Amino acid sequence: MNNALKQCNNKATMETSAQTALRTVEHLATAVLLFDKDLHLVSINSAGESLLSVSHKRVSGMRPNNIWPNSKFFYDAIQRSLYTGTTCIERGVDLNLNSGQKIKVDCMITPVVVDDVAEEILVELIDAHAFVRVLQEENQETVQAAAKESVQGMAHEIKNPLGGIRGAAQLLERELENEELLEYTGIIINECDRLRNFIDRMLSTSTHPVKSDMNIHEVLEYVISVVRAENSHKLNIKKDYDPSIPIIKADREQVIQAVLNLLRNAVQAIDSDGHITLITRIQRQVTIRHKLYRHIIVLDIIDDGPGIPPEIESGAFYPLVTGRAEGTGIGLSIAQQLIQSHGGLINYERKDNKTYFSILLPTEQCDE
Ligand SMILES: Nc1ncnc2c1ncn2[C@@H]1O[C@H](COP(=O)(O)OP(=O)(O)OP(=O)(O)O)[C@@H](O)[C@H]1O
Ligand SMILES: [Mg+2]
Repeated sequence: MNNALKQCNNKATMETSAQTALRTVEHLATAVLLFDKDLHLVSINSAGESLLSVSHKRVSGMRPNNIWPNSKFFYDAIQRSLYTGTTCIERGVDLNLNSGQKIKVDCMITPVVVDDVAEEILVELIDAHAFVRVLQEENQETVQAAAKESVQGMAHEIKNPLGGIRGAAQLLERELENEELLEYTGIIINECDRLRNFIDRMLSTSTHPVKSDMNIHEVLEYVISVVRAENSHKLNIKKDYDPSIPIIKADREQVIQAVLNLLRNAVQAIDSDGHITLITRIQRQVTIRHKLYRHIIVLDIIDDGPGIPPEIESGAFYPLVTGRAEGTGIGLSIAQQLIQSHGGLINYERKDNKTYFSILLPTEQCDE
């Protein structure tokens, strides 16, 4: 592999080509696995560990059928490449992981030929959904930016006359002698306040995050306590935290707001005996909106309710889209904008009859 990578700059010539190659492979977003000619795994890069949810220590020396149980394709394709010395390219291959999870990958299997003999086999894998996801993210981002601009313009236009209407209703209230009519001015004032709260919520995403040290688990404990206090019935919330998650720089109030919106939705979606699970994990080498992060925090908010109604699923993150009679339809849109202003993203997925909302939050500094 050393020869395959050309030394391109002065910095690179200071180190050996092997070091450069290692560093390059380690930072690739493509999963790279190298097998020896007896089909034992020799090395795996960080993207590989992340895609396959394994550590290099655990899989080192393993054969393909142990790394991917029941994925006959890989065993056959790797052996074929080794014996024929030809490259194999395949799109959309189903991969069963040891964790029981199934993923679809595009793959390339290349024999490393030395003196006409295939000595090693290089396997490159890309999550087949990754490109589709990037396109969806781009599309969602464009529509959301346009929606945000028009909502904010509209909100200001509504807010100004609203102050006038409320003030006039208060003056009128003082002048009214008929007690029965006070009920009507009361309604005007209350409805003005409700509209104002709604508009303030919509405008809350326009403030730039003010970042300081934030412990994601402390935020979760706080949000859980708020949601428990809001609900008179007992909530079944299970926690599965990764204690190794570091303190990150983030706007605590904004992250609280985003998590709160998702957790409230989950509570609204489940039956009285339903379950909610909060899982935190670190993931490595993840691309979010064209930027590759070495580490990100993934927070899954999982509920066993029915999921987003199909008729609004594609637009659920846009403002004013709701599937609930009493909903305003801005909770998800606000949460998405707040997390995006931290360089992160919220994904929705329906898996194994469960609803997954996943907050992806970079651990590194990122000014959006
Ligand atoms: N966990 C969930 N399970 C099922 N449906 C969900 C879930 N989260 C969101 N939804 C659907 O997506 C819609 C939009 O959610 P969003 O939070 O934006 O608005 P809302 O909850 O209707 O109102 P609010 O502005 O008060 O939050 C919801 O009305 C609901 O139909
Ligand atoms: Mg909501």
